[in-house]
Amino acid sequence: MAGQILDGNRIRDQILAELTTEIQQTQNQGITPGLVAVLVGNNPASQVYVRNKIKACKQVGIYSETIEISPDTSQKDLLALVESLNERQEIDGILVQLPLPDQINTTAVLEAISPEKDVDGFHPVNTGKLVAGKPSLVPCTPKGLIEILKRSNIPIAGKHAVIVGRSNIVGKPAALLLLQEHATITVCHSKTPDLSEVCQQADILVAAIGRPAMLTGDYIREGAVVLDVGINRLTDAALVEQLFRHDPERLQRFRKTGKTLVGDIHPRDVQQKSAAYTPVPGGVGPLTIAMLMSNTLQAAKRRIQPNPHELANSS
Ligand code: GUN
Repeated sequence: MAGQILDGNRIRDQILAELTTEIQQTQNQGITPGLVAVLVGNNPASQVYVRNKIKACKQVGIYSETIEISPDTSQKDLLALVESLNERQEIDGILVQLPLPDQINTTAVLEAISPEKDVDGFHPVNTGKLVAGKPSLVPCTPKGLIEILKRSNIPIAGKHAVIVGRSNIVGKPAALLLLQEHATITVCHSKTPDLSEVCQQADILVAAIGRPAMLTGDYIREGAVVLDVGINRLTDAALVEQLFRHDPERLQRFRKTGKTLVGDIHPRDVQQKSAAYTPVPGGVGPLTIAMLMSNTLQAAKRRIQPNPHELANSS
């Protein structure tokens, strides 16, 4: 029996509709959440990502600005820009689109963003809160994974979640969030021996390695739930024909456009072995922007009701 498709577009639409209603309520209290996206240079992929983020802001009623600056901007000027955004009361979220040009120290820039406005959840203060199990702004893609599971009524507590990939943006925070939901977690990476055997133990398998279709059927336990974070662009016709033999529609589109996306999980094997899985495209990806909107609203709520602990600490 083919695994159930976990439709990220449907879940995203549901979340954006809920956020729209909630944002109307905050506006009734006189507060419009605000997000600034900073785009350094003219990386075409980054331009598309930022455009989509701004489009989502418009859809849910978040005020947004894109600040585009030259690729040869100095570190000092970028830090000064971030500082000026930290000071702006009407801006709740600051997002510096990555990757940044070589002359810029990415860590220094991300750490300059006020943790209260860090809607990407990349600041070490937010990482620390996540580790400690305190409320914080959480990285968007891992937060989206939890939403997919919860909204699909897939139990997490007591399950064994195996995460392949240990990045600060996806693998590590995904592990921490799944742990917070009472899963038993295993984090694997390029030095893990017998990776397929470890993955075979997963009730919930998360792939975030950036290698096209690497996790084949040998890595997937029969009946597992599989979440595929990979977004790999393929143009190699022989490889695409082989990976998508089971999907004539996909092959037809590939033959027209010469490109297609594949995740880190083998697209045919996951369909055959999993109980449920996120497709690529249309699985985890759509949730990332929805979670950015959610984080921006969460950041804006501080203006309505500042965190009582923070008040206590500052008095
Ligand atoms: N570049 C690719 N993904 C992301 C993301 O989630 N946030 C930022 N700021 N840049 C990115």
